[in-house]
Amino acid sequence: MYYTKYVYRLSVGDFYEFLTEYGKGLEILSENESSVEFATYEPVQGLKPLDLLKVEVLPPEKSFRPLRVKNFVILPSWIRPVVIRQGVAFGTGLHATTRLCLMLIEEFLQEGWSVLDVGSGTGILAIASKKLGAGKVVAIDVDPQAVEECKHNSQENCASIECLLAKPEDIGEEFDLLVANLELDIFRREIKHLKRLFKRVAIFSGLYRKEDLREFLKLLEAKPAKIKRLEGWYGVVIRR
Ligand SMILES: C[S@@+](CC[C@H](N)C(=O)[O-])C[C@H]1O[C@@H](n2cnc3c(N)ncnc32)[C@H](O)[C@@H]1O
Repeated sequence: MYYTKYVYRLSVGDFYEFLTEYGKGLEILSENESSVEFATYEPVQGLKPLDLLKVEVLPPEKSFRPLRVKNFVILPSWIRPVVIRQGVAFGTGLHATTRLCLMLIEEFLQEGWSVLDVGSGTGILAIASKKLGAGKVVAIDVDPQAVEECKHNSQENCASIECLLAKPEDIGEEFDLLVANLELDIFRREIKHLKRLFKRVAIFSGLYRKEDLREFLKLLEAKPAKIKRLEGWYGVVIRR
């Protein structure tokens, strides 16, 4: 989309007189001792424009980006902030597997769905799910420190999440979406439990290179709906 700018030139005296009467927005393009060149966003009655400029209207996503000012971050309203304490747990968003999961959650999660995050670390994926409109969210980890971090980060993000010290075999209910960013060795042990824990979509990551992926797909015994690669790591999506 484009809009038009109307370019005018007036003597300095006339321009400042015009400015006080005009009362609308304008842009000074250049100014010297004798004249001022300026642009308005609509034609000015009684003045002949020197030029008409076509200006592209940038969509807000392009023109309004997150802005860091010292310890503040100013965010556009459509950005979903996830605040993570730099602690001992895995999951700050720096690792490719975390980012793969975040991208796949955004693509597959539907509002109101229940979510189980297995191997939650900081809770980053559980928190992101909640921010995307998930219903009940449970985050489990076998590391007590990770569970503490998950609780802390959930509170920090005003996200209501059950952070539990548990393994997949301890969970007795099904969730609409399961996300598990683990590693092949853990998948070998846990896959049979993970398979029974989701009703609609499962997102798996923590698989490095084709060798891991190949073995994981055999363990899964299901056709993936999507495989996504980032920096040599894979994310796999299963749909029911
Ligand atoms: C790679 S981190 C993922 C952290 C976070 N979800 C992310 O995506 O950044 C894997 C986490 O799984 C946990 N974990 C390892 N084995 C597990 C198991 N059998 N059940 C649940 N969590 C497990 C680890 O303690 C660790 O916090």
